[in-house]
Amino acid sequence: MVVAATGGVAAIKTPAVLRRLREAGMGVRAAATEDAYRFVTRLSLAVAAGSEPFDRSAWFTADGQVRHLEWAAWADALVVAPATADAISSAASGRADDVVSALVISGIPKVLWLPAMNTAMWSHPAVRRNVERLEADGHTLLGPVIGPLAARGEGAGLGRMVEPDAVPAAVEALFQERDFEGRKVLVSAGPTREYLDPVRFLSNPSSGKMGYAVAEAARARGASVTLVSGPSALDVPVGVERIRVESAGQMLGALIGPFADADLLVMTAAVADWRAAEVATEKIAKFDERQALELVRTPDILMALAEYRRDQVVVGFSMETDKGVERAAEKARRKRLDFVCLNYPATEDSAFGGDFNRVTVVTSNGEVEELPRLRKRELADSILDRVLPRLRPIQS
Ligand code: C5P
Repeated sequence: MVVAATGGVAAIKTPAVLRRLREAGMGVRAAATEDAYRFVTRLSLAVAAGSEPFDRSAWFTADGQVRHLEWAAWADALVVAPATADAISSAASGRADDVVSALVISGIPKVLWLPAMNTAMWSHPAVRRNVERLEADGHTLLGPVIGPLAARGEGAGLGRMVEPDAVPAAVEALFQERDFEGRKVLVSAGPTREYLDPVRFLSNPSSGKMGYAVAEAARARGASVTLVSGPSALDVPVGVERIRVESAGQMLGALIGPFADADLLVMTAAVADWRAAEVATEKIAKFDERQALELVRTPDILMALAEYRRDQVVVGFSMETDKGVERAAEKARRKRLDFVCLNYPATEDSAFGGDFNRVTVVTSNGEVEELPRLRKRELADSILDRVLPRLRPIQS
């Protein structure tokens, strides 16, 4: 694909966008408008892309090649990062007086815009109109997001370009079949915390990566996604609504409402099983060598939600060290789950924290399917593939 920079301060991030896409195994070339070079150099784009950028100097050469058509024929996608109000306007009106707008109308199948501008500009009716035109032409927009903006005294506002880390998933989503369009997907992720006193809690090492990957995959496939997350260092995937919680009780409280009209719940959260019977209001002093702690069970969220179950598909996760399949099937029946993804702790495929996971899918009627060790994002898609035939018909 071609990654094109246009003339905004966020163009300093274009090399990082190129690098993230290359790291994700995608073939990239760079393009730049003349104004982009006020912010990023030709050399840094060339190094990040691994080849010479397409720009005005490369456009009008006397070698008999029509460069914009040649580049457009090569590319499967054009990513404009950053996209200024001017670049959006040019493309919306079908101009071709700079390399980016020329590429847009030269037949590249997919175009992804990463707008970056001041909040007032982004919300101006003229820009809104141009954005709508691009969407009507089948283009995709990613962001902008709320964050610190360049103009002095502006502080944070809507208009910041999405971070380069978010781009590979968005590009993959361009080519993704949108088979979850119109679906509401609810995902729980991460650990929960059960406080003993104001500064201590019971928890576990769950990173949230599996659940965030499911949320991202469902979003890419067109679902509207709510992610109920325990404490996690991960960034919320673009386009996903995140509700942050700490305890199991709060997680249950956050899930109940959206569960009512969800099509799917994927419960990846590693919910703490016990909480302190009494939470001390002051820090517990360490007077004695031994300290007894009375624990009570946290609510079983899936059991509690089973009461509100209509025709939602529900998927649980389960970590077992012994008799895994048997226990997972029993759990699926008891918690009224469509299937359980059984995973294994403390192996090289270990679920906690890593980027890979290996699960065995166990249905409530005892069918067993072993999936290979996969990147969590790919595993998320495999899980969604298995959900798809179980979804209720779309209600119009
Ligand atoms: O019974 P077990 O904890 O092994 O079940 C795991 C599944 O149940 C996971 O999907 C987990 O998110 C969910 N769970 C729950 N409420 C709890 C504990 C686990 O919903 N209190």
